[in-house]
Amino acid sequence: MRIHDTIAGVRAALKTAGRIVFVPTMGNLHEGHIALMRQARQHGDCVVASIFVNRLQFRPGEDFEKYPRTLDADCKKLVAADVDYLFAPDETELYPEPQRYVVEPPVEHATILEGEFRPGHFCGVATVVMKLFGIIQPQAALFGKKDYQQFMVLSAMVREFALPIDIIPGETVRAADGLALSSRNGYLSAAERAEAPRLQQILSRMVAAVRAGQRDFPALEATAQTELEVHGWAPDYVAVRRRLDLQFPAADDTEFVVLAAARLGTTRLIDNLEI
Ligand code: PAJ
Repeated sequence: MRIHDTIAGVRAALKTAGRIVFVPTMGNLHEGHIALMRQARQHGDCVVASIFVNRLQFRPGEDFEKYPRTLDADCKKLVAADVDYLFAPDETELYPEPQRYVVEPPVEHATILEGEFRPGHFCGVATVVMKLFGIIQPQAALFGKKDYQQFMVLSAMVREFALPIDIIPGETVRAADGLALSSRNGYLSAAERAEAPRLQQILSRMVAAVRAGQRDFPALEATAQTELEVHGWAPDYVAVRRRLDLQFPAADDTEFVVLAAARLGTTRLIDNLEI
């Protein structure tokens, strides 16, 4: 695996690379990331990963400073996953001057769900991904459905800007007890880690209820929130939405997704399941 930390260096290296498949990450890699790397291999000749903890997508008071930075261990995992190139710039390389030009997702995408509780988050995500696309110039890019709204926002961005990039989803990878893998799981204490699978269990029960014909979504959401609270969680939202655009389901919608975000102690976890 070749590692580049400059824009000029990675551009020069990729000039003759063939079909480039790109997997952007913030590092501290786990099996969810690595599954995307393996899947990427099936979509092109040259797999490029990036690691960059993007300050623009963190709010003041969020975990930008303490976000785990584990480059050496990450490199070993990427080599084992047969990744061809890693782009790992530092902040002065990617943001040599304040990033004044940004990608502003529409309010109906950016201010719901995650966007309601993390204002500006999707502008930060869309801006860095647009910039990384300009640097790497991939023909395809993979994003996990673990971050369902992020996938929706980035798919819409690529579509509306007519970028010549195939956006490919990766399934959520989970621990044996059902907890979705996340770099933030490392913040959990042992007791919190034992409690954490409840989020996915509650979502699974909501899926079963909807499949059984339940259409009173607000009632389902309220029950789920209460159950989380009873067990010590502080939920931001539990929401049944339509898959297409994450808006409230209309009467004729048939494809749903249930999404949740909740804090356990100081750790904020998100998860979702398609229905
Ligand atoms: P990060 O959280 O590092 O995630 C990188 C990619 O891995 C994203 O596409 C995410 O959806 C995917 N991923 C994370 N956990 C997963 C899991 N358990 N199963 C499957 N895929 C999983 O998402 C970001 O970084 C950033 O916002 C980024 C897109 C890199 C922009 O900064």
